[in-house]
Amino acid sequence: MKNNNISSSLISHPSSLIIVTGGAGYIGSHTLIELDKAGFDFLVLDNLSNSSQEAIKRVEKIINKKIPFVKGDIRDKELLREIFKENRIDSVIHFAGLKAVGESVQKPLVYYENNVCGTNNLLEVMKEFGVKKFVFSSSATVYGEPDKMPVTEDMQTGVGITNSYGRSKYMIEEILKDLFISDNSWKIAILRYFNPVGAHESGMMGEDPEGIPNNLMPFITQVAVGKLPKLRVFGGDYPTHDGTGVRDYIHVMDLANAHVKALEYINNNDLNEPLIVNLGTGQGYSVLDMVKAFERASGVKIPYEIVDRRPGDIAKIYANPNKAKELLGWEAKRGIDEMCESAWNWQSRNPRGYKGE
Ligand code: NAD
Ligand code: WQD
Repeated sequence: MKNNNISSSLISHPSSLIIVTGGAGYIGSHTLIELDKAGFDFLVLDNLSNSSQEAIKRVEKIINKKIPFVKGDIRDKELLREIFKENRIDSVIHFAGLKAVGESVQKPLVYYENNVCGTNNLLEVMKEFGVKKFVFSSSATVYGEPDKMPVTEDMQTGVGITNSYGRSKYMIEEILKDLFISDNSWKIAILRYFNPVGAHESGMMGEDPEGIPNNLMPFITQVAVGKLPKLRVFGGDYPTHDGTGVRDYIHVMDLANAHVKALEYINNNDLNEPLIVNLGTGQGYSVLDMVKAFERASGVKIPYEIVDRRPGDIAKIYANPNKAKELLGWEAKRGIDEMCESAWNWQSRNPRGYKGE
């Protein structure tokens, strides 16, 4: 065996498995809990470029089960072939990817290579092995700057995207649509996440970004634990109810559950095209709404100042989530208070994230 990172427990696993790429990451790790709850078996493939194996260990504690884990890269075809040869793989849930919007503008080739080429590589090996069920982590960013709100899945995509990260998601969606046209026995779910926040109720897992967070919620929680002095609110002059940007924040456990529903849907239905669904609550909150909600949930004051707009940001975006409700029977159950409480529960118990004290 070429790659000695494959744990021996993986070899000839008896039951059929889902490969969860990027399963050590923020959304992937939370999804493992929901998959387990629904009775699915899985193995995780992650190169740990933006995560820690500690996240997997925490999931193992929560679900009280060992998780087969392969430290490796979706761009490594030989490794993928080994995994497919040695296990009965049923489907792939594909979270692996780079996601830092600003960095993607500086390093477009790195992002296209990792996200687009990596996904293409994975799909090629799936095709070789006749595994044709695929759930993909897309993003509301594919809508660019929509002219109507709330956003529905049939609206235009690919126009007005301001960064290579977002374009990589759009390109992968197009690849998946073409793949289906070439062979309609593929069963593909494209999930367009809005703004995932929050954490598992245990406080043992959560979002653990490297360095200074790019996203709002981890920035707020790190201000709250005193790691950062204050929040900079990017823009106070947008055409929104209080001048700050409006987004559709969705609890990560609701999002995790949607993956189970999407997988069950593609398992049980014939598809005429890739399934594309928005995953949001349908409710838009501003930056200052989030600050206030977090202060309520944590009892901690968040100092902030309003600064210039961040280049590439839009004023407002929120989902119409009806399609997910109609087709998948899924809707978000947790509101803004639970999002903030769980994010705080995680951050206050783990001020240094998975790195420990
Ligand atoms: P994350 O960085 O926490 O998780 C991604 C995981 O993929 C990490 O564990 C990383 O180590 C792994 N990875 C990256 N490149 C890899 C490669 N080439 N081979 C193997 N593993 C690789 O990010 P997340 O927030 O959990 O996001 C998961 C997916 O959802 C990503 O595709 C992201 O683009 C997408 N998404 C995230 C958000 C968000 O705001 N968090 C919103 C919309 C879409
Ligand atoms: C939310 C709001 C900011 C940080 C990005 C990606 C998107 C998706 C989710 C992956 C905005 C404001 C933020 C801060 C602030 N990711 N903000 N101060 O930009 O909606 O979406 O993450 O797919 O593709 O583009 O999320 O959390 O960065 O920002 O004022 O320090 O908070 O301007 O209005 P965004 P975000």
